[in-house]
Amino acid sequence: MAKFMADHRIGILPGDGTGREVAVEAQRILNTIEANTNQGFEQTVIECGGQLYHETGEEWAEGSFDFCRDEADAIFLGAIGHPNAFLPNGDLAGGSVILGLRSGLDLYANVRPIKLYEGVPHKVHGKFTQIWEPGMVDMTILRENTEGLYHSLLRRSADRAMGRPPYEPPEMTFPGLEGEVAYDPRPISEHGSERLIRMGFEIAETRNGAPIDGVKRVSCIDKSNVTRGCQLFRRTFDKVSKHYPSAELDYGYIDAFTQWITRSPESYDVVVTSNMFGDIATDLGAVLQGGMGMAASGNIGDKHAFFEPVHGSAPKYAGMDKVNPIASINSIQMMMDWLGRKNNDDELVQIGQLIDQSVADHLRSGDSLTYDLGGSASCSSVGKSIADRLSSKLKEQF
Ligand code: IPM
Ligand code: MN
Repeated sequence: MAKFMADHRIGILPGDGTGREVAVEAQRILNTIEANTNQGFEQTVIECGGQLYHETGEEWAEGSFDFCRDEADAIFLGAIGHPNAFLPNGDLAGGSVILGLRSGLDLYANVRPIKLYEGVPHKVHGKFTQIWEPGMVDMTILRENTEGLYHSLLRRSADRAMGRPPYEPPEMTFPGLEGEVAYDPRPISEHGSERLIRMGFEIAETRNGAPIDGVKRVSCIDKSNVTRGCQLFRRTFDKVSKHYPSAELDYGYIDAFTQWITRSPESYDVVVTSNMFGDIATDLGAVLQGGMGMAASGNIGDKHAFFEPVHGSAPKYAGMDKVNPIASINSIQMMMDWLGRKNNDDELVQIGQLIDQSVADHLRSGDSLTYDLGGSASCSSVGKSIADRLSSKLKEQF
């Protein structure tokens, strides 16, 4: 058995609503890996979010941000958002967690894979009858995660998390507007764009290209016919692309992109875009992979990362053991892949692949699916079933 034990310190932030249930399933996967390999996970659970704020006046305990920055090797976040939990200044309560970490840890890329597994009905036609051929949807969208339209809120949230004085954007005047005006500046920097786009090209090198033709293709999605920030983003894309001659370049405006991604998802491989466009496009993208319950993500920087399902806290399902845990399980898959590549540990990368295979086998078998995929299985039973499959695969392999 174990010659040595690799120990990874993992922060578990369950957050609000159904985030708390899916975090348990994420932990079940970590425990399953630990039981069957030499990889160890020291899990530290940190309560946080809008509900905690509602109850205690704190978004998380003092020192939590410092723990995430200084102690954790990787972080899992369930969900943030409690109805009516807002700070006195109107900002989202729990924002210091999700947005504070994104900005405060400089997690510049929000990486959101969109993949339709065999046996999963996509949601474009509304019913559970239409299933595209498996493999038709397999793309990764990279959403810029530290600037753009979110910039001021991200900064304020990080300021709170880090105990800095709160940032307010400079006063601006807008000729022709009358009465009260509210605005959120949308700064886009060359540096912020460059590092995001570079990661997009790097990810393209690890993938098999677009489903339709196997061509490695990186799409720059913006609104450069209208905004200056997007013009800089597209110029930066062209500059970075020179270093990656093997990828085919593709360009689109965000409005048209929403049609193309729905009509011909098979043409897309890697997509890079700005913050708010990526927020919106990835909810649409989730529909192509069977819904929000299937959408995993990684908030990734050069040093730190946190992984979270894209779905929110879904308050109406909270505590019912009902929601789909696969978005969370696949977020742990992304965590293993990231940790493995960062530490040059092939075993972790392989473990990530085995999680993917366990999810794929589970979905192909079709026998225990949550309500969103047309079944009636509980969150925990799906989590257990996938963990059991993973356990057998790990036993075989290691
Ligand atoms: C997401 C969410 C967040 C965002 C919210 C909860 C602040 O919608 O991760 O996509 O807008 O980024
Ligand atoms: Mn969103």
